[in-house]
Amino acid sequence: MVPISSGWADEPGAVAWPRLDPELISHGRRVAVLVSQLCVELGVGMASTRAIAEAAATHDVGKHFVPRDILDSPRSLTPMEMACVQQHTRYGAVLLDNAPANPADSSNLASIVALLHHERWDGSGYPYGLLGKEIPVCARIVALADVFDALRTRRPYKPAWSHDVTLTYILDQRGRHFDPGCVDAFLAIESNVAGCWTPADEAFADTR
Ligand SMILES: [Fe+2]
Repeated sequence: MVPISSGWADEPGAVAWPRLDPELISHGRRVAVLVSQLCVELGVGMASTRAIAEAAATHDVGKHFVPRDILDSPRSLTPMEMACVQQHTRYGAVLLDNAPANPADSSNLASIVALLHHERWDGSGYPYGLLGKEIPVCARIVALADVFDALRTRRPYKPAWSHDVTLTYILDQRGRHFDPGCVDAFLAIESNVAGCWTPADEAFADTR
């Protein structure tokens, strides 16, 4: 008789699926909302805006495979722990679309965004250290929205920043961490989104 597998993780040989983190999912939703507004301001078409926002919602899905005690650590991470956290980009890309060796070869927007949302305009990001427009525009937009939400919400290792302090940081990183065009678009909409982050969001314990 051929055994029938239920696919559950407690079966021998099955791959354990981590517990989905509702806080991480909420972070993705808030980033997706901000990405939608940035796309509209940047003149991105409706279909592409929807696709990029959907990709933004899962940009950090790879963090479900990073040990929780590292993500929630209130102290500075060791270089080895930081490297472990940085792997979430590759985990997410593999989960969403078997990460291609060359991200430019992928047509899967969610995989591209998961893989490249920590790249920086000045080439100091990861995992590839792509520079400027080498980074797909969808990943550049998500990068700004991701950092904005990360700063506006409480994390285990820092309090929530105020809107004004976060805005100052975003402006300071124009042409450094962020695409100048994305920062300019953010400036045009920031007063509209200032009220979107409620005290409950700001108190949200989220992850790196
Ligand atoms: Fe991330």
